[in-house]
Amino acid sequence: MKFFVDTANLNEIREAHDLGVLDGVTTNPSLMAKEGIKGYDAVMAHYKAICEIVDGDISAEVIATDYEGMISEGENLAQLHPNIVVKVPMTKDGVKAIRYFSQKGIKTNCTLVFSAGQALLAAKAGATYVSPFVGRLDDVATDGLQLIEQIVGIYANYGYQTQVLAASVRHVMHLVQCAEIGADVVTCPLNVITGLLNHPLTDIGLAKFLADHKKVNA
Ligand code: E4P
Repeated sequence: MKFFVDTANLNEIREAHDLGVLDGVTTNPSLMAKEGIKGYDAVMAHYKAICEIVDGDISAEVIATDYEGMISEGENLAQLHPNIVVKVPMTKDGVKAIRYFSQKGIKTNCTLVFSAGQALLAAKAGATYVSPFVGRLDDVATDGLQLIEQIVGIYANYGYQTQVLAASVRHVMHLVQCAEIGADVVTCPLNVITGLLNHPLTDIGLAKFLADHKKVNA
């Protein structure tokens, strides 16, 4: 399973990259705004900076909601770097844009997916990734992980190449359960990835090993 970090913060991206297990980055307009990145040139420069840190797929989301606008924005984004994946919302124009990009060999991430039917449409349009939002479904008392399972099953039935990118992954158990289900990718904040490191028995065991070593090497 691939690990993507879901942030536009360059320090967090560097830290995740330095762990040596990072496969890519996802961003969205909210995450870019959180970093105070505004204006066309600054946005483009920021995506380039991310591409210089991580050698993996970097999702950059279009702001336009109409087909022509998405195509023009997406083409500009794709020209920035070969690792850019154009992130397109699950709308009628979005599906048409994904089909266009897929025919042009431009990678896409279909975002804001909340149902199996939407995921089926994204795959048929040729999306590289589909992003079902696990945490946001859980937020409204709907089982987000069940959706991941459903999509993984549907894609397997027909051999769709679209990768299931579990998004809005909020905690370590979300991530582990996505791995059990067979999601191709998870994207999550850095603390969820580093949270995988933690187990109290590891800390206790290490302290004991070091204490025993010290006893005979004092
Ligand atoms: C997906 O690509 C989104 O950027 C993200 O995972 C949304 O997560 P959130 O629901 O925690 O904001």
